[in-house]
Amino acid sequence: MTHTKESMDVLETILSRRSIRSYQRKEVSLELIKELLKAAMYAPSAADEQPWHFLVLTDPTLLEKIPTLHPYAAMVGQAPVAVVVCGEPSTEKHAGMWVQDCAAATENLLLAAHAKGLGSVWVGVYPREERMAPLRKLLGIPANVQPFAILPLGYPAEYLEPKEDHYREERIRWNRW
Ligand SMILES: Cc1cc2nc3c(=O)[nH]c(=O)nc-3n(C[C@H](O)[C@H](O)[C@H](O)COP(=O)(O)O)c2cc1C
Repeated sequence: MTHTKESMDVLETILSRRSIRSYQRKEVSLELIKELLKAAMYAPSAADEQPWHFLVLTDPTLLEKIPTLHPYAAMVGQAPVAVVVCGEPSTEKHAGMWVQDCAAATENLLLAAHAKGLGSVWVGVYPREERMAPLRKLLGIPANVQPFAILPLGYPAEYLEPKEDHYREERIRWNRW
């Protein structure tokens, strides 16, 4: 499996993506960040409601504070960039769908990052109020916007083999349970 091409085939990308929690110091260009955010914004959403916002963190002081607010986010303090995916439920056309919309955008972002040779990991925030409240305070996120997930981004400083055992025939049923 090659990672040297400019971008990978979509199935190759899906099957080889891993959570990367160690990054090189190398800068991630603004152009590349915008390309990844574009991929996120092309995710499907209920009635195309696109209830998302993307808060891009490049300030090392802010990045280093994240691990003090979240118990499983140590790697964010080492990353050159992180994207906080947020949702604005009041923009929904179909009540309750914003979480799924934001999850789709998050996965698109993770896959685009991997396809472009960057490493990332989905750091869950919503629905844990004890993670959302301090993050909201640190970043000035308004009360009508929900911080959903944090995605640190950086050139990988670790390589993880693709998973090999995740196709589980027993989880598939045909026609009736
Ligand atoms: C909703 C969600 C929340 C997660 N939260 C965290 C987290 O807080 N910290 C972390 O290091 N990884 C987190 N992960 C990453 C998972 O641990 C990881 O995806 C899983 O172990 C499978 O590994 P893989 O991504 O390499 O396939 C989260 C993943 C999801 C989907």
